Amino acid sequence: MKQDLLTFSNWTPEAMHKLLNLAVEIKQSPSSYSNVLAGKSVVALFEKPSLRTRVSFDIGINRLGGHMVYLDSQGGKLAGREDAVDMAANLACWADAIVARVFSHNTLEQFSLASKVPVVNALCDKYHPCQALADYLTVFERFGKTQGITMAYIGDGNNVTHSLLIAGALLGCNQVVVTPEGHECDAEIVAHAKKLAEQTGATIVESHDVSAANGADVIYADTWLSMGDETPLADIKAKFMPYQVNEALMESTGASYVMHCQPAHRDLEITGSLIDSDKSLLMQQAENRMHGQNAILTQLLSA
Ligand code: CP
Ligand code: NVA
Repeated sequence: MKQDLLTFSNWTPEAMHKLLNLAVEIKQSPSSYSNVLAGKSVVALFEKPSLRTRVSFDIGINRLGGHMVYLDSQGGKLAGREDAVDMAANLACWADAIVARVFSHNTLEQFSLASKVPVVNALCDKYHPCQALADYLTVFERFGKTQGITMAYIGDGNNVTHSLLIAGALLGCNQVVVTPEGHECDAEIVAHAKKLAEQTGATIVESHDVSAANGADVIYADTWLSMGDETPLADIKAKFMPYQVNEALMESTGASYVMHCQPAHRDLEITGSLIDSDKSLLMQQAENRMHGQNAILTQLLSA
């Protein structure tokens, strides 16, 4: 039966570790995996803009011996010219997998039902699993483990935060999530992550106070306004500025590294000087997008 990757929510710690190990293996021995997608085609469908996800899938698929067809949303949401289910069923007639970046998680669920080939979530309103896998690969490379490491996410509780919580819970990585009031994570997703964390002993703490991040190994930032959020920056800037990830915060928390999924907004959610500093893991994360996604495709397409 075909397997999708819409979220890691229904994964086991063992499966999550196995996927992370596969990403390490593919990164270390790319030539051993250069034919795993030979003769296969992947359609990548984007309702929202992308730099990292689009390019890392395209080049990554090429390195696995496969071929990617990029489709943008042709100026609007996917549904309109035809229903999402019909679009997915058509794509599955030709493609071996569908990668999709969409506004609504519901669209991915429809794709999953209608498509006989695997569907991979390349970001939706609720989750960004490919990002989380690359991020924990980065943590693993830096610390030699994910179990017992503490990551503190500071900013808007969003799709990236949700996937970090879920995957982190499975990998035994402790999470501190610090948000301004009114910008907390989805309560159901946090509750689910806490349930998953019972299997690994990982802790999850939510706070509105940045001092909750004291003692963290890694600080993580993301944009204050996710794609599709039309709130004017001026309306939230004063509220978010105390949550800026900067050198003073790195000093007060004692964290060794800073992470950001990018695109980053210099001197808003993170200072430009910190991005450029030796504490920054941003480019390692970006590189690891490709290795993580290649592990996902290798696993789904050889299932
Ligand atoms: N981090 C990430 O998903 O970047 P893009 O939006 O550029 O793909
Ligand atoms: N939270 C951000 C992530 C971008 C990669 C967004 O959804 O726009």
